[in-house]
Amino acid sequence: MDKLIATGGGPLKGRIRISGAKNAALPLMIASLLTDDTLRISNIPHLHDITTTMELLGQLGVRLQVDEKLAIETDASGVGSVRAPYDLVKTMRASILVLGPLTARFGRAEVSLPGGCAIGSRPVNLHIKGLKSMGAEIRIENGYIIADTGGSKLRGARIFMDMISVTGTENIMMAATLAEGVTTIENAAREPEVVDLADCLNAMGANISGAGSDEIMIEGVERLHGADHRVIPDRVEAGTFLVAAAISGGEIRINDVIPRHLEAVLDKLREAGCGLKSGEDWIELTTPESRLRSVNIRTAPYPAFPTDMQAQFVLLNSVADSTATVVETVFENRYMHVHELQRMGANIELDGNTAVIKGVKSLYAAPVMATDLRASACLVLAGLVARGETTIDRIYHIDRGYHCIEEKLAQLGASIRRVPGYYLERRSA
Ligand code: EPU
Repeated sequence: MDKLIATGGGPLKGRIRISGAKNAALPLMIASLLTDDTLRISNIPHLHDITTTMELLGQLGVRLQVDEKLAIETDASGVGSVRAPYDLVKTMRASILVLGPLTARFGRAEVSLPGGCAIGSRPVNLHIKGLKSMGAEIRIENGYIIADTGGSKLRGARIFMDMISVTGTENIMMAATLAEGVTTIENAAREPEVVDLADCLNAMGANISGAGSDEIMIEGVERLHGADHRVIPDRVEAGTFLVAAAISGGEIRINDVIPRHLEAVLDKLREAGCGLKSGEDWIELTTPESRLRSVNIRTAPYPAFPTDMQAQFVLLNSVADSTATVVETVFENRYMHVHELQRMGANIELDGNTAVIKGVKSLYAAPVMATDLRASACLVLAGLVARGETTIDRIYHIDRGYHCIEEKLAQLGASIRRVPGYYLERRSA
């Protein structure tokens, strides 16, 4: 298994380009199941989750072509299977997104239940409830969700989401594009990735309004056609690099980003004492002479502070000048990084979903283990500001969601390298 070795050092300085958003690209690729025509999606990030999605679509019978600029062309005219197997779903929960499109277009889907996850129980009851309201019969059999419309089309329905769910909203929205009549999703997720998907579906001939608000209306159409769509920039990757520069006392310019998608994060960086400037598609951050100020955080669905940036801000507070509280309200178990940061000298007390963090002057290196995607990013950044050499193990988590993270960090002057697993294994043999 590969490891990353990071050495704490000077400030990170320079400019980088932000990649396409993982959480936008995955549903966009899966939307290809809704049409017989060619869908072309550009600005796809080079990530493990993208490869998994390609494998999943390939197994269903979608033909895929990737060009050298990381654009993908899909052709779902030959889909021959409606089954998303456990092997793939267990490695990537977003696979649940095939449930809506397969049921809408083929009247049947068999999708493995995702099972447990490192950051919380993450049920899919809202996805199932939505499709049931639209007339699909759903049962659970041998660990699989079996959806069947009995040969009829899905019917439009009014669906209230008990909790705000990003992929839940996306699944129902995709299914509703081919349903008979109008579907309304109330208490819908407002994330930019939901809007990006709605924009692409509309370009494919769907009739969706209200995406970006908490009520989305979808008028079903007979068929969708092909389109050419560019994935929005990854706001979490952007936020992660801003935090990296901030905690190292550096300065950074990030290009190819949409600043308004990051407002809650930029607000907190400003409150921590950073200088921020932005233009249409760039953000520049400078850091104060003195230590960063600690900032209280409460995660919640967009447009509030994103749970996907919580770990990075726990780290920022760990090296800031006083005490702050971080409250995680979206996932019940998203503090695995805390125990690893404590091993690096951070002063954090956990009480349920609240972390109380007393900043320390510096962290020290330790061997640490990545547990989920964003926790891994936080540990890599911690290694870059800690005294000594930190080894981060199980970095396959980070490869799921960050495009060439060590190359981009190195471009900013970080001392970081990847050591292939086989080399470490041979050295220790
Ligand atoms: N929930 C339910 N029932 C459901 C669905 C969700 O109770 O049927 C609960 C979840 O357990 C959670 C809350 O609702 O407590 C919100 O979960 P949501 O469904 O919004 O999460 P998701 O759609 O599974 C997406 C992102 C996550 C991101 C969350 C929250 C994708 C592929 N994943 O997950 O991204 O953290 O929204 O913003 O879009 C990541 O990129 O590292 C990541 C985990």
